[in-house]
Amino acid sequence: MQFVDVTPRVWKRLLAVQQGLACTCCGRWSPGERAALDLYGPLARRDVGPVTVGQIGQSLDGRVATVSGDARDVSGPDGLAHLHRMRALVDAVVIGVRTALHDTPRLTVRLCAGRNPARVVIDPRGRLPDDAPVLADDGARRIVVQAVDRPRPAGVTALHLPLRDGQLDPAEILAALQAEGLNSVLIEGGGITIARFLEAGLMTRLQVAIAPLLIGGGPQGLTLATPSPLLADAIRPEMRVFSLGSDVVFDCGLTPEAVAATAPLHLGRDGVSRA
Ligand SMILES: NC(=O)c1ccc[n+]([C@@H]2O[C@H](COP(=O)([O-])OP(=O)(O)OC[C@H]3O[C@@H](n4cnc5c(N)ncnc54)[C@H](OP(=O)(O)O)[C@@H]3O)[C@@H](O)[C@H]2O)c1
Repeated sequence: MQFVDVTPRVWKRLLAVQQGLACTCCGRWSPGERAALDLYGPLARRDVGPVTVGQIGQSLDGRVATVSGDARDVSGPDGLAHLHRMRALVDAVVIGVRTALHDTPRLTVRLCAGRNPARVVIDPRGRLPDDAPVLADDGARRIVVQAVDRPRPAGVTALHLPLRDGQLDPAEILAALQAEGLNSVLIEGGGITIARFLEAGLMTRLQVAIAPLLIGGGPQGLTLATPSPLLADAIRPEMRVFSLGSDVVFDCGLTPEAVAATAPLHLGRDGVSRA
């Protein structure tokens, strides 16, 4: 397990990587800073094709909330800072409407330097109220993916997609976001939304951040509609483990491209990336 130390200078480097202005290989870094480059580099890079990363913050017993629905800050302080860093590195953050209604998140970047990503809510039936915090006008792009013809507040983009067997097709959602120029996407929850992208084979990375608490009951982080009947059939991704401090994150590469993206990025003098 690598201990991650996100110093101001390594974070500055990662924001430069995001801009295509720097590599992740050069420089004299402490082991913790090098681990930060390893963990966040694949999200910051823009030379590895579209990235769709899911993130779940859960307890030791795999819960994301209590039985009464208390879900605020399952993750510890370092897990929350990690989530904000991930937001800062992607083009867009996506949530399902149940999370938008239950948690009323803002999805902004507050615990690190960086710009706010576009915010996207998957709301097929038009349940999200116009005054939801996620739709607040703070300069970031706000998008709702919906199947109904429901007007949204000024400045909010409504992307209309058809229902197929009662669901929106995750591939069509990603294609619609890419058509908006949003190529690196963080699926921040909840479990239903993450599971849809995972089962469609569209998730390139999955991060499970575990905080050291036992809740004893409550909703689980991830439940698939088609679970593996045998352990031999279970998904066994390439996996790296990082200690954030208060939380431990399991970073899983789900595609060959995602695994390849964990290699250091070299930039030649011409600015072109080299393997
Ligand atoms: N710890 C964490 O990391 C974390 C993060 C986020 C949320 N949470 C917790 O997770 C819970 C909510 O998560 P959840 O899994 O119940 O719901 P969710 O994933 O937030 O939202 C699911 C809903 O979004 C819509 N949706 C998403 N993908 C769709 C698709 N492909 N096609 C059609 N509709 C789609 C549907 O809306 P309709 O219902 O309108 O059909 C669906 O029921 C809350 O307790 C929240 O606190 C935890």
